[in-house]
Amino acid sequence: MNQKSPQLIYLFQAVLVGAIMACMILMNPIQPDLLVQEACGCMECMRNVEVDPWYAKRYNSQVPRLMYTQNSNLSSSTDKWWQSLQGRPKNMNYTAIVETIFSMFPDENHYSDSGPDRCRLCALVGNSGNLEGSHYGPLIDAHDFVIRINAGPTEGYERDVGSKTTHRAMYPESAVDIDNSTHFVLIPFKMIDLKWIVSIFTTKHITRSPRKVKSSVQANMDKVMILHPEFIKYVHENWLEKKGRYPSTGFIMLVLSLHICDQVNVFGFGASKSGVWHHYFDKKYNVFHNTNNHKGGNEYNLILQLEKKKWIRLYKGL
Ligand SMILES: *[C@@H]1O[C@H](CO)[C@@H](O)[C@H](O)[C@H]1NC(C)=O
Ligand SMILES: *[C@@H]1O[C@H](CO)[C@@H](O)[C@H](O)[C@H]1NC(C)=O
Ligand SMILES: *[C@@H]1O[C@H](CO)[C@@H](O)[C@H](O)[C@H]1NC(C)=O
Repeated sequence: MNQKSPQLIYLFQAVLVGAIMACMILMNPIQPDLLVQEACGCMECMRNVEVDPWYAKRYNSQVPRLMYTQNSNLSSSTDKWWQSLQGRPKNMNYTAIVETIFSMFPDENHYSDSGPDRCRLCALVGNSGNLEGSHYGPLIDAHDFVIRINAGPTEGYERDVGSKTTHRAMYPESAVDIDNSTHFVLIPFKMIDLKWIVSIFTTKHITRSPRKVKSSVQANMDKVMILHPEFIKYVHENWLEKKGRYPSTGFIMLVLSLHICDQVNVFGFGASKSGVWHHYFDKKYNVFHNTNNHKGGNEYNLILQLEKKKWIRLYKGL
């Protein structure tokens, strides 16, 4: 008993010192820069959201991103919002559709692998005419992920837009054939879009949605991914503050990139320097940025904010 006493005293002292240190840490407000962990393997990573209240107010790390069986059940508020976009579809059994989808396409929790060993550089390539003459091609192709939007082609435009496409975000009305190394990221604005993606690989019977759509699309079934409807709602509510009816494909993919990449470089968004809004691949000078459905001006202002606050790097082209 007596021999053990010194050890007990040491133990007691150690506990006491530990307790005092714990108190000191708890009493000192944590410096914001202590929260900035380098949480990835890149030279620069996405910062902890806490450093920017503006960003923290909008960014929700918990929202489901890509869909798989385990997260496929919709909350009633998501279900209601989703149906408000499309009207109530007839003969749609959501549970059955989801079962079919994940018997055909990979049923995985994609891109949940962030950590100190990962450095995922993403190039998000929009379709703006400001890419013309930019010579961004090699820079874009140097990224791990090159995410393209809708029909934006690479063939014939390689010097300015690059040739690599790891992901292409599309919905039925915007779909094009893609090569078998590219992920097809379906943006399901409507429930029938889920039926359509099954149909294009099987019966090919869906030809309208309700506008005319491609009944068959060349793509690799093993690389299909479905954006979660709740993610679309989240972009609409948290980021666009419900302005416009629903977000554009490009803006949805920008927010998705913030969630799945360690660094986000954005190309081909906004007007060209001469103030014209058009696509690099057609010469129709559409005013496509402010249609009824998307408040493009609002989306672009958010992109500028994200750049100013250094969450993304924006390559504005010419
Ligand atoms: C989804 O909801 C259905 C019906 O309420 C239930 O049977 C099923 O277990 C749920 N799936 C998951 C993955 O939570
Ligand atoms: C919907 O499909 C599921 C799974 O195939 C099935 O169990 C359920 O009975 C169907 N519901 C309706 C209303 O048909
Ligand atoms: C992908 O396409 C190439 C060229 O068309 C072809 O040789 C290859 O077999 C395809 N791979 C798969 C998995 O379909």
